[in-house]
Amino acid sequence: MLSGLLVAASLTLSAQNSATITLKADEGKEIIPKEIYGQFAEHLGSCIYGGLWVGPDSDIPNIDGYRTDVFNALKALKIPVLRWPGGCFADEYHWMDGIGPRENRPKMVNNNWGGTIEDNSFGTHEFLNLCEMLGCEPYISGNVGSGSVEEMAKWVEYMTSEGDSPMARLRRQNGRDKAWKVKYLGVGNESWGCGGSMRPEYYSDLYRRYQTYCRNYDGNRLFKIASGASDYDYNWTKVLMERVGHSMHGLSLHYYTVSGWSGSKGAATQFDNDDFYWTMGKCREIEDVVKKHCAIMDQYDKEKRIALMLDEWGTWWDEEPGTVRGHLYQQNTLRDAFVASLTFDIFHKYTDRLKMANIAQIVNVLQSMILTKDEKMVLTPTYHVFKMYNVHQDATHLPLDIDCRVMNLEGQRNRMHRSETLRTLPMVSATASKDKEGKIHLSISNVDVENAQEITIHLPGVKATKAVGEILTSKNITDFNSFENPDNVKPVPFKEAKIKKGVLTIKLPAKSIVTLELL
Ligand code: AHR
Repeated sequence: MLSGLLVAASLTLSAQNSATITLKADEGKEIIPKEIYGQFAEHLGSCIYGGLWVGPDSDIPNIDGYRTDVFNALKALKIPVLRWPGGCFADEYHWMDGIGPRENRPKMVNNNWGGTIEDNSFGTHEFLNLCEMLGCEPYISGNVGSGSVEEMAKWVEYMTSEGDSPMARLRRQNGRDKAWKVKYLGVGNESWGCGGSMRPEYYSDLYRRYQTYCRNYDGNRLFKIASGASDYDYNWTKVLMERVGHSMHGLSLHYYTVSGWSGSKGAATQFDNDDFYWTMGKCREIEDVVKKHCAIMDQYDKEKRIALMLDEWGTWWDEEPGTVRGHLYQQNTLRDAFVASLTFDIFHKYTDRLKMANIAQIVNVLQSMILTKDEKMVLTPTYHVFKMYNVHQDATHLPLDIDCRVMNLEGQRNRMHRSETLRTLPMVSATASKDKEGKIHLSISNVDVENAQEITIHLPGVKATKAVGEILTSKNITDFNSFENPDNVKPVPFKEAKIKKGVLTIKLPAKSIVTLELL
């Protein structure tokens, strides 16, 4: 538990249990790119094997080897983009080991993640076919750390060349005639750490060299992404902007809601209210981090041609007792759902620069959408937030003014809150958008664990007469979905919203998240 550190924390609230929001329906400018709702699948623990893939001979129902239950749940989520094969794994992955007849594929040790033996039965074909079936863009993370330029160049040719090239011929021998479309290509991952322990100056040169040989074949247009900084490493962003500049289309960034990198990170399901509020503060700190990286990018790229790609984010707790060390399997409570909703509320505000985000990770690892155990599957509270929020994908962001109670987190500043601006936690977080058909959606989170809030939303210029939607809440903030009780935390219809004379009023129960459509 994190709470030991918090005894002296000064958490003060004023008594007011109400909030006022004003929706600025005519001030929408930026589109929320659907890629903000991206996912990440790494060869780590049971994300791929047992999570997404069981193989065609499994007793677990599957479609050509992909778990049917997981596939159907992911299809319903409208995933826009899926990053693979890592993470740290990517810089030890040699793609040629993962093609051809599965029984002939060589094995390797997954050194980053528990020393597990990787049999390469899920490789390029299995991944790209899955993306086609899900209707999402693949995001390939290439190996710079331990791979060669030639290896990366040939991978691009293998996947995307239509002609009679050597790699296209090899692909055809392996059963795939038509090239896949691959847009996003990551040139290394965490090159400052597990991806090669490099200095930004050295990596910048390597990036320039590797990307030179990653070609656009037959109408496929690569969007090349340089390996970016970890959270507060602003120098990495500065050096890359200076030295790489427009030879990259995107620059990545990783930010985890984590209490620290050494020692216990806290249990996923056992925490108190102080821990919860600390987590909300840490999660909201991503706004400050994004703003600072954007400000550096602005100095070198005023036209915002280079995108910021937050290709790893989410909560990182201690692994569940009894699970394999290094497999990063963690439960997921209503607290994680709030990390998702608050993070999206922030992401929506920075989409002039932030063009993609990928939560870590899709199944069975860190803040996952889905947990599996043999033939069983549960949807996590985070899954439900992603589903409730997917109405905002590709919609126009509508600004909000929010006036609400604020908690003072001053006493918690030593727990990795580096930002000077984040000493307070607003009790209400919200976001709004207008989709292509003109429908307005509003998502509101009541962060207060103990008190319901009367929320008054002014809707000047909006001709709506009612609001319908769903609410996600539960008895305890520590509640989660287990294999025995899979529907413990799930959204239900929300019918309490009323609109009168352009004002929407709702009573939002303690610790609840709602998404409404204005009709
Ligand atoms: O998501 C787990 C790991 O976190 C990734 O492999 C790595 O990129 C990051 O450190």
